[in-house]
Amino acid sequence: MAIRNNHQKSRGLWNTRFGFILAASGSAVGLGNIWKFPYIVGQNGGGAFVLIYILCTIVVGLPIMLAEFTIGRKTSLNPVGAFQSLKPKSHWVKIGYMGVLAGFFILSFYAVVGGWTLAYVVKAFTHTMSNFSSPKEAGQFFGSFIANTWEVLFYHALFMAICVGIVLRGIHGGIEKACKVLMPTLVIILIFLMFRALTLPGAMEGIEFYLKPDFSKIGPQTILIALGQAFFSLSLGMGCMLTYGSYLPEQENLTSATVYVVIFDTIIALLVGMVIFPAVFAMGLEPTEGPSLVFSVLPAVFVGMPFGNLVSIVFFTLLAIAAITSGISLLEVVVAYFIDQRKWDRKKAVLVTSVTIFAFGVPSGLSFGVLSEAKLFDMNFFDHVDNIASNYLLPLGGMLTAIFVGWVWGTKSAEEEIEKHETKFHWGHVWGFLIRYISPVAVFLVFFAKFV
Ligand code: PHE
Repeated sequence: MAIRNNHQKSRGLWNTRFGFILAASGSAVGLGNIWKFPYIVGQNGGGAFVLIYILCTIVVGLPIMLAEFTIGRKTSLNPVGAFQSLKPKSHWVKIGYMGVLAGFFILSFYAVVGGWTLAYVVKAFTHTMSNFSSPKEAGQFFGSFIANTWEVLFYHALFMAICVGIVLRGIHGGIEKACKVLMPTLVIILIFLMFRALTLPGAMEGIEFYLKPDFSKIGPQTILIALGQAFFSLSLGMGCMLTYGSYLPEQENLTSATVYVVIFDTIIALLVGMVIFPAVFAMGLEPTEGPSLVFSVLPAVFVGMPFGNLVSIVFFTLLAIAAITSGISLLEVVVAYFIDQRKWDRKKAVLVTSVTIFAFGVPSGLSFGVLSEAKLFDMNFFDHVDNIASNYLLPLGGMLTAIFVGWVWGTKSAEEEIEKHETKFHWGHVWGFLIRYISPVAVFLVFFAKFV
């Protein structure tokens, strides 16, 4: 006990339960909720997709998140160390390495998009975007911005520097403190934006598209997309929640924390839809635009509405905050590995890993400019890194984590950890069933459907 406590104290611990929930929610709520979710809903028929997404979140996401928190708290270690300590010298340790690698990959391109959000905050402040006459014009503006080598690199580096500044200060003094300020700000901004969007004339048409399920648009492919999105959005499959769980003191209730984080992430995604669809429909535009929805359709939408420039500033600030609180969680996974396994101090771990991740991200940043012709199988560098990490490493990591907890380490051992300090785990049987049978099979289907 004393040894464990000393070990934990030297790694850092969350100061309060609320702080932990905010930090984990901060990891979950990110570009996945605000940038990806609306355009995926727009492309996949609206309301019916939203229902399927919610189902995937509850049936697959929630059990795996609890599994990750449990492994993390049990071992008080990074993903590699955690699997190593539960099944020493086994192949299962590779899940941990895959997670650290996924964190490295994802942050390398996530920071590029994070940089775009910072640039758009600045551009909104300086009124650079207040005279678009059409979405096409806004789209061209976006296209020439992401092709501009030095501007992109500058904001990419700035985004990494902000993450470094926070993660350097450690768990309680850095990540928890930052999230305690940033997450409430994010919620306030979102509520403000929702009022603005819902009071636009014509907003109801957007709400109808968003909330009225049309099941004719749903096929097997839609379910796969929904499940993949649930994974990315909940930060699962790469040991991120495992790492955050490793800074939890023993008396915390893991099940309720999991439920809060999942509900928070889902509500934020749903609310973002309540901002974007009314705004897009009110301005007579189409929601099926794809990845450029947020960066090239919205600025044009904002120009057309009263107080549009203010709304633009506020919206891109929201996007930047969400990206930062996720970026720090990605960095922390890689940093924790070097601190625990390689015995580096935090400063060295943060500086060395962040510079390396930035350098590896440079070709992603240039993928829409000087390197846009450098394609392999019709995808640029950015697309490849995103594809490998999000579509392969995450689902594979999630599936193996579920199998590991369900069949190797065992749901019994996991439940013992969850029930520490006389915490009641009422739905233990349901969870055991989901983690052993449902989660691995569902992810298996998503994963292998990609090959057929
Ligand atoms: N969940 C984050 C988002 O929605 C992305 C992320 C994935 C963060 C994996 C950490 C780990 O944007």
